Amino acid sequence: MSAHAADTDKHRKTERKDAAKAWHTMPVLRAFAPPVETAAQVNEATGEAREIVPWTMPGTRLRTKLSAARRGLYAPALPGAPTSTRQAEILNTAIIGAPTGTNGVVIGRDVLSRTMIAHDPVTAYNASPRLVSSPNVVVIGDVGSGKSSLTKTVYVIRPLLLNKRRAVVFDKKDRGGEGEYGELARAYGHEPIKFAVDGSGTRLNLLDPLISRGTGMVGQMQLLNVVARLAREDQALNEWEEEALRAALRRTVNQYQDGRTPTLADVLPNLSRVADMEDYAGLSSQAIDGLHQAGLSVRFTLNTLLQDYGGLLDGETSKNVDLRGKLTAFDISQLPDQGPAVPAVMAIGHMWLLGRLREDRGWATNCVYEEGWHIAAGPSAQLARANQKLSRGLGLSNVFVFHKGTDIPAGSPGMAMIQEAQTVHVHRQTLREDALWAARTFAFGADTAQQIERLADGHHIFKYSSRPETLVQHIRSPWETQITDTDEAFKAAAGIQG
Ligand SMILES: Nc1ncnc2c1ncn2[C@@H]1O[C@H](COP(=O)(O)OP(=O)(O)OP(=O)(O)O)[C@@H](O)[C@H]1O
Ligand SMILES: [Mg+2]
Repeated sequence: MSAHAADTDKHRKTERKDAAKAWHTMPVLRAFAPPVETAAQVNEATGEAREIVPWTMPGTRLRTKLSAARRGLYAPALPGAPTSTRQAEILNTAIIGAPTGTNGVVIGRDVLSRTMIAHDPVTAYNASPRLVSSPNVVVIGDVGSGKSSLTKTVYVIRPLLLNKRRAVVFDKKDRGGEGEYGELARAYGHEPIKFAVDGSGTRLNLLDPLISRGTGMVGQMQLLNVVARLAREDQALNEWEEEALRAALRRTVNQYQDGRTPTLADVLPNLSRVADMEDYAGLSSQAIDGLHQAGLSVRFTLNTLLQDYGGLLDGETSKNVDLRGKLTAFDISQLPDQGPAVPAVMAIGHMWLLGRLREDRGWATNCVYEEGWHIAAGPSAQLARANQKLSRGLGLSNVFVFHKGTDIPAGSPGMAMIQEAQTVHVHRQTLREDALWAARTFAFGADTAQQIERLADGHHIFKYSSRPETLVQHIRSPWETQITDTDEAFKAAAGIQG
């Protein structure tokens, strides 16, 4: 471009700018004026462009005439900025709304908006309208990702500050010879209820009257069925065996109607006498034979169970089994990981609790199952599932804590139970397939699975009902930190101050 052409171009630009400026001084028409490019002011010392600051601009003129004011004559005559609303949005980033309200129990902080996250399934379930359709909770995460720390604070310590709230815990993690809730239970004034296979601990009676109080013979039959199945490594009883067991149970209950409480050992002889019951009088000798065989086969199974776990299951329920103030800890940390002991105690405890809660209406109870896959991945899930409605009616909120979901068979009652839970906390899942399982099962957004693989300790993805999930940093008080830090023993061994 020649020097002359450049001059002409500059001249034209100045003319256009002046014309636009003139428009801006005209009442009414100014609304249609094109934007004017504002020259950046240059800082003389540095030569850098300076921002235009409003307080250096001329203010509005004094209003002297009402009619002129109406026409907009006194409004600031500044030209508008050459930008569209869409472009300007980026300069004014929206304030991110808090993902939860303030009702319930404080969990921690939303990492994105830095706002408080509060939720309590019982409060949300009792809200009107209901915010969740089930008060059950699922907590998942790798070993050492902060599950128990969250559960102890958000589902035990904090809700216990509220009126008529109570917690019951099945405490599985061994920490120096006892469960990890021992210290906490003592802080609430009671010793944990300890279970051991060698007979030195507490006993639970499968035929405890509290079990039938909640659910009648149906509940007792469900429980016996599940325990027999657990004893057979998850192989279900067939119809004949179920029938034989039902008949033997009925006979035992009738036998002891006015006497002492029957126990599992009292059912065994009746399992061999199924065939001579009046109800079966019209059956063919083949059918009678079949029932007899079935009764014997269940008897053998239960007999083996009593032989192996007599110290746990043989006899009436120990007197120390009861709800203890605000926090009851069932210490199952000394029971073997393998075999039916842990899921059986969880299943019997669950049924016992349903019966016991009938005596204490008006309370809400958080029941925590640490290593909850013992209940969710096996036949015991049937029980919890079948009694969902009763649970809700009794103010029971079940909290299942486990490592990963891929252990739980698709389409099983355990899976259904998990999908029904309306409050979910997913901690770190380092294995991609576990993270994907969680994202799929709880309908998280597309990027969340990747986020789950990298979550730091004490951080988790939180979701309730069908709301979008949130990345939450769980925050603990100094006392809570002390009581929840499970690596304390390692720190002490390494001489590190906690
Ligand atoms: N909110 C938190 N903030 C920071 N660190 C935490 C938080 N919660 C837990 N941690 C750290 O993670 C460690 C393990 O926590 P926790 O015992 O709760 O994990 P876990 O998932 O229950 O482990 P496990 O699978 O072995 O039962 C704690 O000792 C603590 O160091
Ligand atoms: Mg734990």
